[in-house]
Amino acid sequence: MCGIVGYIGKLKATDVILNGLKKLEYRGYDSCGISFLNEENYKYVTYKTPGRVDHLINSYDYKMNNFIGIGHTRWATHGKPNQVNSHPHSSASERFIVVHNGVIDNYKELTARYLQGFSFISETDTEVIADLIENFAKTMSTEEAIRKTLSLLEGSYALLVMDKEKNDTIYAAKNKSPLLIGSSDKGVTFGSDLMALVGNSDYYYLIEDKTFIVAQKNGKTTFQAYDIIGKSVKLQQHKMDLADNEIDKGGYEHFMLKEISEQPAVIRRIISKYLINGILEVSEKTKNLFKNKKRIYILAAGTSMHAGFIGRFYFENLAKIPTEVFIASEFAYNPPLLEKDALFVLISQSGETADLRTCLVNVKKMGYEVLTITNVITSTLAREADHALEIYAGPEIAVASTKAYVAQVTVLAILAYVLSEEKPFDLAFELSRLSVAMEAIIDKKEYIEKLVEKKLKKRNCFYIGRGIDYYTSLEAALKLKEISYIQTEGFAAGELKHGTIALIEKDVPVIAIISQKAINHNTRNNIQEVRARGATTIIIATEALSDSADDIILSDVHEFLSPLLTVIPTQLIAYYKAKELKLDIDKPRNLAKSVTVE
Ligand code: AGP
Repeated sequence: MCGIVGYIGKLKATDVILNGLKKLEYRGYDSCGISFLNEENYKYVTYKTPGRVDHLINSYDYKMNNFIGIGHTRWATHGKPNQVNSHPHSSASERFIVVHNGVIDNYKELTARYLQGFSFISETDTEVIADLIENFAKTMSTEEAIRKTLSLLEGSYALLVMDKEKNDTIYAAKNKSPLLIGSSDKGVTFGSDLMALVGNSDYYYLIEDKTFIVAQKNGKTTFQAYDIIGKSVKLQQHKMDLADNEIDKGGYEHFMLKEISEQPAVIRRIISKYLINGILEVSEKTKNLFKNKKRIYILAAGTSMHAGFIGRFYFENLAKIPTEVFIASEFAYNPPLLEKDALFVLISQSGETADLRTCLVNVKKMGYEVLTITNVITSTLAREADHALEIYAGPEIAVASTKAYVAQVTVLAILAYVLSEEKPFDLAFELSRLSVAMEAIIDKKEYIEKLVEKKLKKRNCFYIGRGIDYYTSLEAALKLKEISYIQTEGFAAGELKHGTIALIEKDVPVIAIISQKAINHNTRNNIQEVRARGATTIIIATEALSDSADDIILSDVHEFLSPLLTVIPTQLIAYYKAKELKLDIDKPRNLAKSVTVE
């Protein structure tokens, strides 16, 4: 969602910040802005605009020298995505300039108590933060005024503050919303996401909640971290191991197509990460979490929840542990009656999803242990869980998740397999075979593009399947709707005739997924039912279960692993439909990569 970048040091701050904001575009936003100090006249400049960072870059002049600045991409929560509401925001006298990610729950109470007589330009909670600092700075030092403000804020924030009376300093703080620091001999960069630090930081530091940072340029640029009462704290240093070329499109037209194409390599990377002395393994710490557990509760959102459904199948069929899957935002406020000896497994690509964080805090309070499965091992959900398992998908930039989904399902399969007493097949071998089958279907992408042109002509669509093919249908439907804006539903094939079949009329596309021998016959009957009512069908089937007239025939893989293969043509269907409609594939409207508000 919102993105933050700040820089102070030897480089031109506007270059670092605008470049960083571009790298955060994938997270989703609807307006953006930047403030910096023009070194030539020592005046601060603020540029803001609704729309894209490119517009911010092309509409304004950045020729002046500058070494300090802060920037922001905003996903509207309080107030419309217009220029006035975009960040940075200034305090009433314009002395303090602030960018903020998160939501301040008590901003109205704070306004009533401390800011009588202040008038506000924007509709945002952020402007209140700037004014609170200004109000307290009348009688306190800048650091004290910021700390006093922080002590009053309820809710989530990642904050950067500049004080026009201290041209050599950026102040930062965080609570619940992510914020990292990057450092090199060229300066200090702040970013709400590791991506924003790539390219100009040799090291990065994770900031704990309620930590306050002061970064200063005094010859060399350094920073110091403090806890909320002002005691100096040491942050752990991590070597930056991402390079710029790992987060570019690598010659592909879109990140989504690049990420779809990377999936066979992701499977092979995961095998290599979890293969110890030729055997798939997870750490003792991971295994211990499952000891004496009578039930697993999987919590997740969106695509990660669909991975959770497949995970349930693996936990129940391989590890023989009863498992339930819940939508995180529902579980957070409506938990069911819970088993005492249970383990919570949280699945999240970003590791920052706010709905899941609420669940994590709640279940930890109830005394449960939590395992997070994530692509970002430095994320909040990874750090706050009892333990975290990394999925090794590599940076996923497209908002529509593809390779992270496949990586989540693969790691869930490995985990359930390691926990199973009988190992009914050689998973490492079957995964390698799967990666080859994935390559074969990705190689046929032009064929899928043509199929989409020919058969997907309506503004609505259905995916159907049974068993684990039903879960793939749910994921396939989400993918098509989120990037092509075509109303698509995933259905259990047998359930259609209990109501929804009323929507089937001439040429409505129904895409069926068939990879499970036991229910092939039943799904094919359901296909006949919709054909009889005029539907245009696309059948995706594995070879052994296929009919020569089927549209997409996939190589045979182990039935347990088929969801990892059948999902690929559905990703390509979504991609090519959105491309045909000339939509913004990597950044679909209204969506954010990392959903950091509830
Ligand atoms: C997937 O294509 C979506 N962008 C979305 O459903 C996503 O999976 C969901 O928001 C959960 O995100 P997370 O995995 O980072 O927690």
